[in-house]
Amino acid sequence: MRLRARPIGSLKGRARPPGDKSISHRALIMGALARGRTEVEGLLEADDVLCTAAAARQFGAIVEKTGESAWRVEGAGGFKQPGETIECGNSGTAARLLIGAASGYKLSARFDGDKSLRKRPMNRVIAPLSQMGARFDAPQSKLPLIVHGGGLKGIVYRSPVSSAQVKSAVLLAGLQAEGETVLIEPERSRDHTERMLKVFGAHCDQVEIDGALHPRVRPSTLTGARVYVPADPSSAAFLIAAALITKNSEVCVEDVLVNPLRLGFFETLLEMGAKLRYEERRDPIGEPIANIIASTSDLIGVAPPPRRAPSMIDEFPILAVTAAFAQGETRVVGAAELRVKESDRITLMVDGLKACGVDAEELPDGLIVRGNGRKSVRGGATIRTMGDHRVAMSFLVLGLAAKEPVIVDEAEMINTSFPGFARCMAALGADISEVV
Ligand code: S3P
Repeated sequence: MRLRARPIGSLKGRARPPGDKSISHRALIMGALARGRTEVEGLLEADDVLCTAAAARQFGAIVEKTGESAWRVEGAGGFKQPGETIECGNSGTAARLLIGAASGYKLSARFDGDKSLRKRPMNRVIAPLSQMGARFDAPQSKLPLIVHGGGLKGIVYRSPVSSAQVKSAVLLAGLQAEGETVLIEPERSRDHTERMLKVFGAHCDQVEIDGALHPRVRPSTLTGARVYVPADPSSAAFLIAAALITKNSEVCVEDVLVNPLRLGFFETLLEMGAKLRYEERRDPIGEPIANIIASTSDLIGVAPPPRRAPSMIDEFPILAVTAAFAQGETRVVGAAELRVKESDRITLMVDGLKACGVDAEELPDGLIVRGNGRKSVRGGATIRTMGDHRVAMSFLVLGLAAKEPVIVDEAEMINTSFPGFARCMAALGADISEVV
């Protein structure tokens, strides 16, 4: 399916994007590991998370939908031997977290994914989990692979990458390992696993090593819990960027997760001169929530510091689009991880921007976009997304503010993270429709 975004007047109104993807995966996985009942409110019912729900069932949990975005998990108190391959679809988070959790149990599980996920590196979890004692049949260090779990020992693991998926895989395995497990990463990545482990009653705290705090787990039995899932800031990012770059716009995005380790994109927007503010901050669930209000802004180019990359890792595609509407140069470095996401996001974003008449350039670990202000972008291209949901949404946002419409291919992949994206945008005044 192809979608076309046409230039529009303005975006106005309020929207509540679907639930946070990271928290949704974790709620289902921890619910399945736990003893007793877990009730999840606001679960993201997107393809990626539905893969995790199906996997949780295969590992022995009862998982059922009880209402709109409401799900119940009856955990089996640990993972059981699955009957068939665990299909992770497009989701790196599903694959890596589930491989970590499964490693803790005496079972053998085969994991597979779609053609994008089969290309993504799995050695980043195979290496630490092997050190802990898990065994792998993974000739290419990619999916499909088989993990043989059980008999783990805790380790102190210095991860070469700042990745919440790696961290979470190791910590989840650590729940079943002898002794303690500590994860050290170059920069802190999102900490939803650590926060939620505490909600499920696990022994999870922080330990000081070399003057910094790092997460640590000890063997734990989880107990079912209630989880509320706020709106995903990575989905809110598209609505906010669209409001900033279209004329006469003001949009309030409600109930957004504002965990500080997820706010790098919004910090960067503020440095670009964005009219952006947080309202009604609250913290009912151990994760902070707020409304974010954004309005049309005259933006300037920026160079976000490399250490900020983990806190905006999924927002670089929409940052690249936003930068095309800013005045001056935006330079992203220290973001080589973008090359191993659902697609090579550096190449795809630069190619797409150039096709839309934007001055953009690839760097080995980032990109440069030279913008000429809000009214300067031509658009008028058909964008190759290679099935990457965030590339697709980014260019649809570009099409709303460009001079000519933009078409994206493989738009059905948007359902992996933001089902109802086109409808949500349309409710604010956007013109996004299927090309027939
Ligand atoms: C995620 C972590 C990030 C992010 C992904 C979700 C998570 O990946 O890109 O969309 O839920 O842990 P990395 O941890 O590999 O950077």
